[in-house]
Amino acid sequence: MADAAKTKFTPRVFSGIQPTNHLQLGNYLGAVKRFVQMQDSGIETIYCIVDQHAITVWQDPSDLRHATRELAAGYIAAGLDPKRSILFNQSQVPAHAQLGWIFNCVARMGWMNRMTQWKDKAGKDSEKASLGLFAYPSLMAADILLYHATHVPVGEDQKQHVELTRDIAMKFNHDYKVDFFPITEPVIEGAATRVMSLRDGSKKMSKSDPSDQSRINLTDDADTIAQKFRKARTDAEPLPGTLAGLKDRPEARNLVNIYAALSDQTAEKVVAEFAGQGFGTFKPALADLAVAKLSPIATEMKRLMADPAEIDRILGDGAERANAIAEPILAKTFDIVGMIRSQR
Ligand code: AMP
Ligand code: TRP
Repeated sequence: MADAAKTKFTPRVFSGIQPTNHLQLGNYLGAVKRFVQMQDSGIETIYCIVDQHAITVWQDPSDLRHATRELAAGYIAAGLDPKRSILFNQSQVPAHAQLGWIFNCVARMGWMNRMTQWKDKAGKDSEKASLGLFAYPSLMAADILLYHATHVPVGEDQKQHVELTRDIAMKFNHDYKVDFFPITEPVIEGAATRVMSLRDGSKKMSKSDPSDQSRINLTDDADTIAQKFRKARTDAEPLPGTLAGLKDRPEARNLVNIYAALSDQTAEKVVAEFAGQGFGTFKPALADLAVAKLSPIATEMKRLMADPAEIDRILGDGAERANAIAEPILAKTFDIVGMIRSQR
């Protein structure tokens, strides 16, 4: 993260996850685990539960409430300390929507049209998609730039959105002749920036995949985790001694990446360790490792979920601290744009 030093902005990390369905292993390895590592490195970290992004596609209100608390519990159970990091849900800080509006007027329709997530989520009948889904990346830019965040840890699928955030910051700075918003860096690192489905090595693991067998949920019990890895699609070859040998074996490569990320090693080291072994050996080893790493998180999530009032209190406290950073940046943005704020 050395490049942040080149700018006038103090390093600050922001990231967010949507409260939709359960957290899955891809979210954990590609996002949450790395959020915790960044927190532990001592940098200022702000993590958001992006409920306003979630409702760009229909959410049942009681499911949304439950998923918001469960995601908060997941973050904390995975090691996020709500005293050291700021943890809150987006809708409690109105400045996100306010800055989002300004960015709706900075971003261009053509930019939004090129977003692959928009194309995927809107599907064939984009006329029926919500306007919010189309504007989603502009709200995401607001989430990040509202805190002058310099670094955004995300999985590979979010790279395009962070690049758009950079475009919005540059256009705003250029149009208003200021150097106000930082040009944020995506941080896409580690062995598991794109965890694939356990059923199909060409699809990413997702909370919304109709097949529960395709993913490991953070709430799965030990037997379910072991059973899902046992049934994971693979080929019949033993593991090679080098990564080059996994080139055309996406399912095998995925399991190796998962093992590497869970055990904090490189994928090279994992193949070297299991060279020549078949999946009859590798899958149980992977299942044991996953259970050892994930079971304590599931247990802690259950404990936290038993006290929803405490979760709500933590989110309220985080929102207050987030607001204290966001408000002056929003006020300055309004001023740059030429909007009057009367003293009251
Ligand atoms: P979402 O569940 O779409 O809100 O994603 C939350 C975070 O998890 C984002 O940073 C994603 O890039 C990351 N993520 C989601 N699925 C995966 C995956 N299969 N592999 C790696 N990262 C992922
Ligand atoms: N778009 C992200 C996703 O679907 C979630 C998100 C919203 C986000 N705002 C963000 C991620 C700001 C990083 C920074 O995963």
